[in-house]
Amino acid sequence: MSKLELVISRQRIAAKVTHLARRISQDYAGQELVLIGVLNGVFIFISDLARKLTIPTRVDFIRLASYGSESASSGRIEMTKDVETDLEGRAVLIVEDIVDSGLTLHWLKNHLAERGAISVKTCVLINKLERRTLPVELDYVGFEVEKGFLVGYGLDYDGQHRCLPEVYHLVLT
Ligand code: PRP
Repeated sequence: MSKLELVISRQRIAAKVTHLARRISQDYAGQELVLIGVLNGVFIFISDLARKLTIPTRVDFIRLASYGSESASSGRIEMTKDVETDLEGRAVLIVEDIVDSGLTLHWLKNHLAERGAISVKTCVLINKLERRTLPVELDYVGFEVEKGFLVGYGLDYDGQHRCLPEVYHLVLT
């Protein structure tokens, strides 16, 4: 049995996405930006964010998994789809729904470091601090959450709850 407790409402998400998009558009004014979304969880956040940007933007994706089907990080990164855009000379913004242990972002920044981008920054909707094992530099952060298993707005539990429009704490009872 489980229950869902609301953590971040759709109104707060919408306001935050608008705020982040405004900051990013200002910071990258006069440049073209490549958004790199980390599948699968990011698909809702990146589509909302991309549509609010007012600068020329390309979008690409990478598919990484760090969790398997469990709620605890396995400490292992598996890449099943790489970025296809030539990043040479481009400004890159990694977009993530959540940073938890930091393993995924740490791995990805190293993976992209050799691709010739002029900059690689990070935008995460939720910075969850409870299980951080690797320090990662975050440039744009939507919300800080201390702990709890979060689902909704792209976040899943074993494939469930991804398409909820708000972020919930999944409480297993
Ligand atoms: C989640 C999330 C991040 C990663 C963060 O993805 O979307 O990519 O975990 O965790 P970390 O900081 O501990 O590495 P997940 O592996 O669950 O795959 P999914 O996006 O397909 O749900």
